[in-house]
Amino acid sequence: MKENQIRIERLAQEQNLSDEDFRVLWQTMDQEDEAFLYAKAREACQRVYGREVYLRGLIEFSSYCKNNCYYCGLRKSNAHAERYRLTQEQILECCDEGYRLGFRTFVLQSGEDPYGTDDRICRIVAAIRQAHPDCAITLSIGEKSRESYQAYFDAGADRYLLRHETADPVHYRALHPPELSCENRKRCLFDLKDIGYQTGCGIMVGSPGQTIDQLLADLHFMKELGPHMIGIGPFIPHRDTPFHDRAPGTLTDTLHLLGILRLMFPHALLPATTALGTIHPRGREKGILAGANVVMPNLSPAAVRGKYLLYDGKICTGEEAAQCHECMEARIRTTGYEVVVSRGDWRPEDNVPSPHRTD
Ligand code: 5AD
Ligand code: SF4
Ligand code: FES
Repeated sequence: MKENQIRIERLAQEQNLSDEDFRVLWQTMDQEDEAFLYAKAREACQRVYGREVYLRGLIEFSSYCKNNCYYCGLRKSNAHAERYRLTQEQILECCDEGYRLGFRTFVLQSGEDPYGTDDRICRIVAAIRQAHPDCAITLSIGEKSRESYQAYFDAGADRYLLRHETADPVHYRALHPPELSCENRKRCLFDLKDIGYQTGCGIMVGSPGQTIDQLLADLHFMKELGPHMIGIGPFIPHRDTPFHDRAPGTLTDTLHLLGILRLMFPHALLPATTALGTIHPRGREKGILAGANVVMPNLSPAAVRGKYLLYDGKICTGEEAAQCHECMEARIRTTGYEVVVSRGDWRPEDNVPSPHRTD
C-alpha cells in the first residue's frame, strides 16, 4: 500500500494522526490517495448514519451585524449591504412551510444584530418549540454570554452553531478586528457544550493567512472540544470587504478536509455547505461523497435571500423554499444517498446503521 494510504488507514483506525503524518498527507495527497480517503470516509459515515443525509432548513432572519469581520459581506462597515429583519410571524411561516416540505430541523441564523435581544430570541424559540414540538431548533447568532445561551436553551433551543473560524489566536487577529478574540470564541463553544447544546464549530478552508499550522491547531482544538457538528466551507471573497482581492479556498482542499474530519469524528454531523456549492456546481454532492452527511437548503423568503450575502456569487438566492428543497433532493439522489425526514440527531453510541427515526 502507498504511504499515504497507510496514513489514511491509520487515521480511520485511530481517529487521529500525528502532526507530521497530517502535514505529509495534506501536502502530498494525489488522486489515488484522495479516492482512498473518500471511500474510507464514506465507509465510516455509513457505519454510524447509514446512507442517510439530513436536511436542515436555514432561515436567515436578520442581515444586520454589529461586528466587522474582515472576510464577511455582512460586516457593519459594508454600507452596500442591504439590511433586513424578519418578524417573528415571518420566521414562523418559514418553519411551517419547511415542516410541510419535510424539514425537522430549523437553523435560525443572523448577524450579531442588537435588535435580537435575549427576550426576543427566547420568544421566537419558544413559539417554534410550541408550534413544532417534534423539531430541533438550532441557533446560529454569534457570541453571547453564558447566561444568554442558557436562556435560549431553556426556551427550547437544542443546538448551536458557532464556527470558531481559526483556533490560532494570531490568525484569529488577522481575520477579525481587535474587539473580537479567539479566547472568547472558544469560551462560547465550551459554554454551549457545557449547557447541553449539540454544538457545532468550524472554519473556512483557505481563509487569508491560513497555513497548515493553523489547520493543525484547528484539528487539535476540535479534538479538545468534541463538537457534534463541524461546518466547513471554502473562503470566498466578497467585493466590499478588506479581503476582496484574496484568493478563495479550493474545492480540493475543502473535500480533503471533509474526508479527514469524517475519519477523525465518525459521529459528527458534517454539512456540505452552500459555499462548497458556490465554488463548484456539484460541490455539495462531492462533499457528500467525501464524507459529509448534512445539507442546509435555504428556507428564507425569496424576497430577502439576495440580501444575506456573506460572499460573492452565493447560490440559491433566487429560489423559493420548495424549489431549493426539490433541487436538493434530486442532487442527493444522484449521490446514491437518501434524504430523510428526521431531526437527524447526533448519534453517540450507535455503530450500526439504524432504522429511520422520525422522532
Ligand atoms: N466566505 C466563506 N464563508 C464565509 N463566512 C463568512 N464570510 C465568508 C466568506 N467570505 C462564514 C463564516 C461564518 C459563517 C456564518 O459564514 O465562517 O461563521
Ligand atoms: Fe457578522 Fe458573522 Fe459576518 Fe462576522 S461573520 S461580520 S459576526 S455576520
Ligand atoms: Fe437551492 Fe439547488 S439547492 S437551488
